[in-house]
Amino acid sequence: MNHFEYRGGALCCEGVKLADIAEAVGTPAYVYSTATLERHYQVFRDAFLPRNVLVAFAVKANANIAVIATLARQGAGADTVSRGEIERALMAGVPAEKIIFSGVGKTADELAFAVQAGVHEINVESRAELELLSEIARGVGKQAPIAIRVNPDVGAGGHDKISTGKSDAKFGVSPEQALALYARAADDPHLHAQGLAVHIGSQIRDLAPLEAAFRVMRSLAEKLRSNGIAIERLDLGGGLGVPYFNEPDPPSPAEYAAMVSRVFDGFDIGLSFEPGRMIAANAGVLLSRVVRLQERPRPIVVLDAAMNDLIRPAIYDAYHGIMPLKQATASEQAVDVVGPICETGDTFTRNRMLPPLEAGDLVAFMTAGAYGAVMASTYNARALVPEVLVSGDKFEVVRRRWDVAEQLRLESLPAWMES
Ligand code: LLP
Repeated sequence: MNHFEYRGGALCCEGVKLADIAEAVGTPAYVYSTATLERHYQVFRDAFLPRNVLVAFAVKANANIAVIATLARQGAGADTVSRGEIERALMAGVPAEKIIFSGVGKTADELAFAVQAGVHEINVESRAELELLSEIARGVGKQAPIAIRVNPDVGAGGHDKISTGKSDAKFGVSPEQALALYARAADDPHLHAQGLAVHIGSQIRDLAPLEAAFRVMRSLAEKLRSNGIAIERLDLGGGLGVPYFNEPDPPSPAEYAAMVSRVFDGFDIGLSFEPGRMIAANAGVLLSRVVRLQERPRPIVVLDAAMNDLIRPAIYDAYHGIMPLKQATASEQAVDVVGPICETGDTFTRNRMLPPLEAGDLVAFMTAGAYGAVMASTYNARALVPEVLVSGDKFEVVRRRWDVAEQLRLESLPAWMES
């Protein structure tokens, strides 16, 4: 459920007409709904009650500090994959004890920063990383809380590029190695071995692979305990899919939580989750204006948004619903929808049935709150797209448009060209 709907013929976000935001801020622009973010977080967290779980929002899905702060005020933690994401989470008010630091290529500087900050858990992905972290923790005189990331050889997800759990993926270590590394960490005075972690993919629409991976996790934790090694927590990752309009609904948080309860029935262990898409995707849209139409047997609608603003269709063939901001009454026709960037990859969709659109009309790309603005760039010397947060009948720009004049301030000619 989300808070984008037509009211009196105008597509609204909560109590605000999206067309009013487009007029005030310009297009393209991302718009997020506070009520939807809060609701998605609450529904996910409450699905596990009475079990108290740590829900660490995957900041990679939407790293705007206003979005993170909205969730932090509900009690959410943060799953981060870089020093920058940790800094954003801290700045947004997520307490360090609710921050998880994941990722396959953490540098020594990043690990030291995380240890100093006192994060909840560092998810370690290799023996080399474990050795380095132990040394760093010794150097700063702190004990680093760790989990070992397991690669369970179970893949899943909406696209090959976002499946992470097969043994040939770059993530984690095999279950056998995980046991060995965990035992090694448990013996190390500079490390606090607290758990195991897993994440098998994103946009997962089937519970079976998740259940298979979670069963691997339970049996590994049981093995450790039967060997007399303490383990307090399991981090079960993110990955639950969302409806993108053209596909059947994925499992609900309630169905997902019921599966988790089934797997961990009678097993006393702390659980963490790292949902990103499930929290943010349907809480955001990308607004865009029609620049003009190319006349073809199948018309081409050229928008002012491009692949640099929303790259998911170009790299994952992703589907995003497109809704006119003014509710249409005329019948739909097949069109292609493209951006202005000079490559054919800058095509949002082909052969889509849409109501008639004309130059100047406004549209919204739906389900764009996750992996939208965070993946935007300035390709083709375009401005970096702004972000707006709505709450009730209020809205405010929470990242302003970074225009080309400002971008140019970062650039200079080398000294040898200056004379
Ligand atoms: N935890 C870890 C370790 C992850 O790698 C990811 C996502 C998540 C949590 C959050 O997964 P979610 O709940 O959002 O599915 N750019 C792609 C998605 C990449 C996801 C990468 N990892 C897209 O636009 O579809």
